[in-house]
Amino acid sequence: MNKSIIVVGILLMTGLHAHAIESPSLALGKTLFESTLLGTKGRSCATCHTQGKGLDMVGDFNDTELKDIINACLRDALGAKTISVEAQEMNALVGYLRKFQINQ
Ligand code: HEC
Repeated sequence: MNKSIIVVGILLMTGLHAHAIESPSLALGKTLFESTLLGTKGRSCATCHTQGKGLDMVGDFNDTELKDIINACLRDALGAKTISVEAQEMNALVGYLRKFQINQ
């Protein structure tokens, strides 16, 4: 009896923990995607890619390729600084973009 309570407790804790890791990152990705403050042109990613518009091919790219494209759009479309491919912000953007993939 006591043992199963502990097991359930551990499962709950690890489950909640995994959830806690995923959500802030997705929330950060969404915030960045919708921010007009990243660049100098008063645009956000969402200005051109509203509801994932034009992002149908995201599933065709691996993370490295996707990060290059994100940096190209940051620099050219937003007039923003590029983001390090290892930065938390970059990984958050990749994670958020993956939500728009047709075949996840
Ligand atoms: C001024 C409009 C504009 C803005 C702002 C913009 N993009 Fe793009 N983006 C494009 C165009 C144009 C393409 C290439 C053609 C297409 O796939 O629609 C593209 C392509 C992409 C692709 C490749 C998708 C595919 O399926 O081929 C990704 C990923 C992407 N953009 C991410 C971003 C991110 C992240 C931001 C914000 C940092 C952003 N874009 C901001 C216009 C824009």
